[in-house]
Amino acid sequence: MAAPLPRDMTAIEIAQPGGPEVLKPGRRPVPAPGAGEVLIEVAAAGVNRPDVLQRQGGYAPPPGASDIPGLEVAGRIVAVGDGTGSWKVGDSVCALVAGGGYAEYCAAPAPQCLPVPGKLDLIHAAALPETFFTVWTNVFDRGRLQRGETFMVHGGSSGIGTTAIQLAHAFGARVIATAGSDEKCEACRKLGADIAVNYRTEDFAAKVMEATEGKGADVILDMVGGDYIPKNLSCLAVEGRLVQIAFLKGSKAEINLAPIMMRRQTLTGSTLRPRSVAQKGEIAQSLRAKVWPLLASGKIAPVIHKTFPLAQAADAHRLMESSAHVGKIVLLTAKA
Ligand SMILES: NC(=O)c1ccc[n+]([C@@H]2O[C@H](COP(=O)([O-])OP(=O)(O)OC[C@H]3O[C@@H](n4cnc5c(N)ncnc54)[C@H](OP(=O)(O)O)[C@@H]3O)[C@@H](O)[C@H]2O)c1
Repeated sequence: MAAPLPRDMTAIEIAQPGGPEVLKPGRRPVPAPGAGEVLIEVAAAGVNRPDVLQRQGGYAPPPGASDIPGLEVAGRIVAVGDGTGSWKVGDSVCALVAGGGYAEYCAAPAPQCLPVPGKLDLIHAAALPETFFTVWTNVFDRGRLQRGETFMVHGGSSGIGTTAIQLAHAFGARVIATAGSDEKCEACRKLGADIAVNYRTEDFAAKVMEATEGKGADVILDMVGGDYIPKNLSCLAVEGRLVQIAFLKGSKAEINLAPIMMRRQTLTGSTLRPRSVAQKGEIAQSLRAKVWPLLASGKIAPVIHKTFPLAQAADAHRLMESSAHVGKIVLLTAKA
């Protein structure tokens, strides 16, 4: 018989908006899974840049979501609500959540859960949902990247970047990545980037035009914004798609729209967190069909830079803000 669940748990709370030090372990009730939700005993929780924004007070959880940070977890299902399909107590899963991941237990909508692929452990599984959902919906759905096209991703060594490079390469695109050091560029090449550009020493737009014989990139995934916006457009191909997922250098820029019209380009973007459970469930189904087999076979794998005990979430955020990492940072509970 399954052990009874505890009434409360350790969770990381944001004491008030501020620096990493505002992340403090506290006691919270173990969530009760609602209809359509499962309760996961968390072994590992991924850390993502949006968690840093939330901690700073710039990215409030959507209505109804937990105020505990954390957008992805992996662990074992310990309880199920009504209408959760085939998921059952004891299943090992990873899940995309709208909040609540930095905790010993986390409720997740059943459609946003996926099985742990192949022989991956729960630590690697926890590093999957946020970046794989984001890259899939932005690069392949919205950006419509096709085999044989040229794809560029900025922040190539980030959690998002390491996922985007591997997926675009696995699906037959030619990949250009930018990153902030030669070491990071080397890491991008090892993951499948055909060309990696150190943006501190080289002009990425010139490099793209040179590598594509003046044609430009077909799809660009950008998290930087600011002065990158006109530069991205200057090296975007005819019929090219520029997809914005963040604005690390700001969301304002002066651009000339005429080339967008003349070159039939698309400027788009999206955020994942506020989208409906049904929409996230659709992305999960695509990932399960098209990407989970690649993870199960070991053809692609999440890149883990470092793990921290859950109680040291502040140190994990310090590392993320230093941008010294390549790939993902993951928090571990005693169940990892
Ligand atoms: N729209 C969505 O649905 C969605 C979902 C998830 C994440 N995101 C966004 O995607 C981005 C990546 O997330 P993540 O969790 O993968 O973060 P991460 O691992 O912390 O990566 C951020 C990267 O950005 C680069 N960077 C930072 N400041 C920069 C600047 N001023 N110019 C150029 N590059 C800069 C850093 O590497 P360098 O050393 O190369 O500078 C770093 O690798 C974040 O901005 C996040 O908010 C969006």
